[in-house]
Parts: sequence; structure tokens; C-alpha cells
Amino acid sequence: MKKGFFITFEGNDGSGKSTQIKFLSDYLKKKGMEVTIVREPGGTPIGEKIRDLLLDKENKEMCAVTEMLLYAASRAQLVHSVIGPDIEAGKVVICDRFVDSSYAYQGMGRGLGIKTVSTVNSFAIGKYMPDLTFFMDIDADTAMSRRNSSGEEADRIESEKMEFHRNVYEGYNTLVSLYPDRIKRIDTRRCPEEVFVSIRKYVDELLDC
Ligand code: TYD
Repeated sequence: MKKGFFITFEGNDGSGKSTQIKFLSDYLKKKGMEVTIVREPGGTPIGEKIRDLLLDKENKEMCAVTEMLLYAASRAQLVHSVIGPDIEAGKVVICDRFVDSSYAYQGMGRGLGIKTVSTVNSFAIGKYMPDLTFFMDIDADTAMSRRNSSGEEADRIESEKMEFHRNVYEGYNTLVSLYPDRIKRIDTRRCPEEVFVSIRKYVDELLDC
């Protein structure tokens, strides 16, 4: 039996995950819980090196399978070094993106298929599937214009054409219908405080059971 909880946040680039992760972490800490926040790809020294490879715009020739394997490799290290140990220690681990990103981006965006991505990732994640996942729902076009107005330079994935990002969004919608018990759709077209009220409701249900 796992001792802690594992909560992940998902969505297109520019979907506003970071603010909600901060709200949730503060909320749980006030309840006296120990919280670990990590992000993917990265979250470990090895994972951060893999992240650099994945997001570097120079790596234009990277094929879809290499991309899928590198995301899974970063994930394997994070599960081994942080997620697994902290859950076993009874903490709440909050991860900014996890395997659903690979289903949506590599499975649907790149067209490798969710089944293939799932098989490969089963080696990386073992028994550590999230207890609860929030899909921060914002359509791809709105998310990308929000992201572009931030003024930050786009990385290799963000530089993909709009069709890719629309397929990723469709991928997330498919995942919500495949795993309705685990993945909760969160309407992000509200102020951050109101968005958090919806998130808190699901988290309270999880922690109470
Ligand atoms: P990041 O800057 O962390 O994006 P964000 O702030 O939107 O979370 O960059 C991570 C990028 O990698 C993002 O475009 C999504 C992509 N990605 C995948 O394609 N597959 C994956 O498995 C993961 C974890 C991320």
C-alpha cells in the first residue's frame, strides 16, 4: 500500500498550472501535510540534463520515438529518486506534468498512439500512477496566444505548428473520457481563486477517503 498521495497537473502549454500548484501546496501545508513539488521533464540532476536535450531548439532532427524515450527516461529517474521515496514516506507529491503529457504530446501530438506510449512508460513509472490528475482545460489557440504574450522565447515543443497543439488538446480530451475517475477537467476561464475552489473540492475528497 502507498502511504502518501500523488497529484499531477496537466494541460497545453500556457494553461496556468503553476499558480494552482502553488495554491494547492500552501493549502496542504496549512493542513499540516508534507508536500513535494516536482516538474517534468526534469526534477532531478539527470532529468534536468534530459530536459535541456528535449527542449533545445537546435535538436530539430529528434525523431518522435527518441523524444518519447527521453521523456520516459527523465520520468524513470524522477520516480526512482523523488516520487517513489516521498510517497512511501507519506508525503503529498505534486507533479507539474507526468505520464499523461506523454500520452497527449507523443501519443496524440506526434501520432505514436496512447497504447505504445503507455507500454514504454510502464517501465518508467512502475506502480506510481497518480491518484488524481487535473486537466487545466484551455483550448490550444487561446493557450498559445497567452503563452506567446508572456514574452519568453518558445522552446522546441512550443515552436511546433498549431495543428500539433490542437492534437495535444484533443489528446487530453480523449484521456479525460478514458480515465474519468482519475482525471478531472478544470475550467480555467475563471479567476485563479475560483479555479482553485474546484481543485480543492477534489483534493478534499481524495484526502478524506
Ligand atoms: P515546460 O516549459 O515545462 O512546459 P509547461 O510550463 O507548459 O509545463 O516544457 C515542457 C514541454 O514538454 C511542454 O511543451 C510539454 C512537453 N512534454 C511532452 O511533450 N511530453 C511529456 O511527457 C512531458 C512531461 C512534457
